[in-house]
Amino acid sequence: MQAQELLTALADGGTVSGAHLAERAGVTRAAIWKQVESLRARGVPVQSQGTAGYRLPWPLQLLSAQAIRSALPVPVRKSVGELELHWEIDSTSSEIQRRAATLPDLSMILAETQSAGRGRRGRSWLSPPGLNIYLSCLKRFDAGFAALSGLSLAVGVIVMRTLETLGIQGAGLKWPNDVLSDDGKVAGILVELSGEYQGPCAAIIGVGLNVRLTPALREQAGQPVNDLVSLSGGVGPDRNRVAAALIGALAEGLIQFEREGFAVFTEEYASHDLLRGKALRVQGAQGAMEGVGAGVDARGALLLQASDGLHSIDSADVSVRRA
Ligand code: BTN
Repeated sequence: MQAQELLTALADGGTVSGAHLAERAGVTRAAIWKQVESLRARGVPVQSQGTAGYRLPWPLQLLSAQAIRSALPVPVRKSVGELELHWEIDSTSSEIQRRAATLPDLSMILAETQSAGRGRRGRSWLSPPGLNIYLSCLKRFDAGFAALSGLSLAVGVIVMRTLETLGIQGAGLKWPNDVLSDDGKVAGILVELSGEYQGPCAAIIGVGLNVRLTPALREQAGQPVNDLVSLSGGVGPDRNRVAAALIGALAEGLIQFEREGFAVFTEEYASHDLLRGKALRVQGAQGAMEGVGAGVDARGALLLQASDGLHSIDSADVSVRRA
């Protein structure tokens, strides 16, 4: 029995005996125990119930490419390229990178778990199976890099639209595109570009969306994090519905960005901007600066009102100063 089959057997939240699992899979109980340990090592808190067997603390829905596809509105289904679901992969973004030459535009790759999930600034992205969403999307553009300014902020807006579709409130955007609630980061976005400066290019857009985090995962994350289960009062949305909402928002939003650029996203970005009017500390290549957040410009740069005037910042680490 593989970890995937074991998670499937435990998914409804009921207790399943080791003997029953072993018999069903035609393996020894020791082999079952090995897979229980493997799930635990990946961050899934499988509980032992003595002789009664094993259970999860809550039911979970495993992802299904079929369920995701049928939850997509027909026009979105038509615009999406490949829609692939892997049980385990190093990184959905790396997979798109490897196949970028042959994948159709707006292809979406999801995985239940990533063994080498990548975050921004060389950080890793924890990717336990059965709990969150890890998705990467390929979008090609004809107009060159210059037309892509603001893309990563637009993707932040697209994730906020996803949460709105799911009826989830309580999150906003921290420049450039962290999706944060009061308690921590709910989603991370990694946009990687390749191609020609003035010609055809491609964006690989990776989104990690926390649906359910365990206390151990919150500790391991190395930064405050939060999940959709907490934002929706304890009962999380169905993960296939979350994946479909995200894919739908990406397909529509990226086509909109291709046609009209970041300009059409600026108002929506402003309505979710968590830094506007806040006292900020900005740490960039040029050193540190302090000021007040004044929104973003038409290219997606952060505007900082400092004592010597208005600065437009393209890349920096930003933190809110405590009063
Ligand atoms: C961040 O550091 O905020 C960005 C995190 C992006 C994580 C996602 S999960 C799907 C895709 N695959 C990866 O390896 N990374 C991105």
